[in-house]
Amino acid sequence: MTTYPPAQEAFSRSAPVRLWEEGFARDPDSYYDALRAQGAVGWAELAPGVPAYLVTDRQAALEVLRDDATFSHDPRPWEATVADDSPVLGMMRWRPNALFADGTDHLRYRTALIDVFDRVEPHDLRARVHRAVRRLAGRIGPAGQADLVGEFARPLMALVFNNLFGLPDSYGDRLNAGLGKMMEGGAQAAQGEAEYGQYVLELVAAKTEQRGDDLPSWLLDHPAGLTADEVTWQVFLTLGAGYEPTTNLVSNALSRILGNPAYYSTLTSGARPVLDAVVEVLHHETPLTNYGVYYARRPVAFHGVWLRDAVPVVVSFGALTRAAERDHGGARHPADAWHLSWGAGPHTCPVKQHTLLIATEAVERLTQWLPDLQPVLPRERLSWRPGPFHRSLTALPVRFSPRTLDPSGDPS
Ligand code: HEM
Repeated sequence: MTTYPPAQEAFSRSAPVRLWEEGFARDPDSYYDALRAQGAVGWAELAPGVPAYLVTDRQAALEVLRDDATFSHDPRPWEATVADDSPVLGMMRWRPNALFADGTDHLRYRTALIDVFDRVEPHDLRARVHRAVRRLAGRIGPAGQADLVGEFARPLMALVFNNLFGLPDSYGDRLNAGLGKMMEGGAQAAQGEAEYGQYVLELVAAKTEQRGDDLPSWLLDHPAGLTADEVTWQVFLTLGAGYEPTTNLVSNALSRILGNPAYYSTLTSGARPVLDAVVEVLHHETPLTNYGVYYARRPVAFHGVWLRDAVPVVVSFGALTRAAERDHGGARHPADAWHLSWGAGPHTCPVKQHTLLIATEAVERLTQWLPDLQPVLPRERLSWRPGPFHRSLTALPVRFSPRTLDPSGDPS
């Protein structure tokens, strides 16, 4: 009989890199450097006592993402090994949705999601974002100062996603509060998970009662025949998968643009498209850092390490993008498809084009209406939210010439 060494043995000389520490948000590079020093696969902790293999090498990452015969997305064997109150369970526990499914179940859920998102036409999506930006720009414009995370990117995504999911704008704060706590994976994660779960349950119950022209209603009527419970879990996934990382894509892009005045002027003059700035974030500061979570189906030798089953194998999109920043000196890699920030293989993000459109439209409209945004703090003094899974600014304070929007939405 084959006996396998315990998971830690390959890393016996390395203490796990603790991604749950405060310092990770402040200085992720040093944590990623420590992981890379261990080889293609490093040993980390996602929460105290929750170990994981972190994949920091591009080739190894592609192998994990594409090889679904060796790697599964189903966390249940791992879940049986963790404490019930572990703060990362909110983000990692199994639910009957596309992200945690393999094979035919996965295909069924994923196809339904792709089909309903395909019903959202680009011009319609652009108009929804435009309306939401206008509303927020109208609110912050007269003050001449704002926090572009708390007063723009977060409420913007709450407005856009609630609108796509058929909820009134007034629901934004509830969405923000529940999801934000769950994503940080800290002491309030369980409460956030419960609040967000209740939010989604109420939403799907309302749509089951009375259909609307929105994503949950289309999912309920999709020919795949998803039950109301299955629709609830696809909504739980997509609303969360969309809201938090897209908020961070927009705020990370804004912070990079505003931190570089020469670059900002090329965007506001139209010399470079805003899409460039958004794509640059995907190359260098991806919002979803360590959330490509896989599990070896059986113990396997992989890039010099024994991977045990029931231990998360996490593709570190964050380590991969930060390595790109270092290796290419801040310039974008010549190949657009080089970054892996959308993942790859069967679970690759199904709504890349929608996301790029939302983020680009958001930045373009904001900088059009408030063209002289000035950061209050240098980029290195900005603070980042804790948590192993994301790269998320706490705040992005700016100043600008006060403006009011006339009723047509044009700046005056
Ligand atoms: C409209 C916004 C978005 C929505 C609705 C959305 C939705 C989803 C869904 C449903 C999945 C699971 C697909 C599957 O398992 O088959 C997924 C995967 C993924 N998404 Fe997105 N997403 C959005 C934005 C983003 C953003 C901004 C990023 C980061 C740049 C991102 C990165 C990813 C990655 C890396 C995966 C694959 C994770 C893995 O391999 O396990 N997504 N997304």
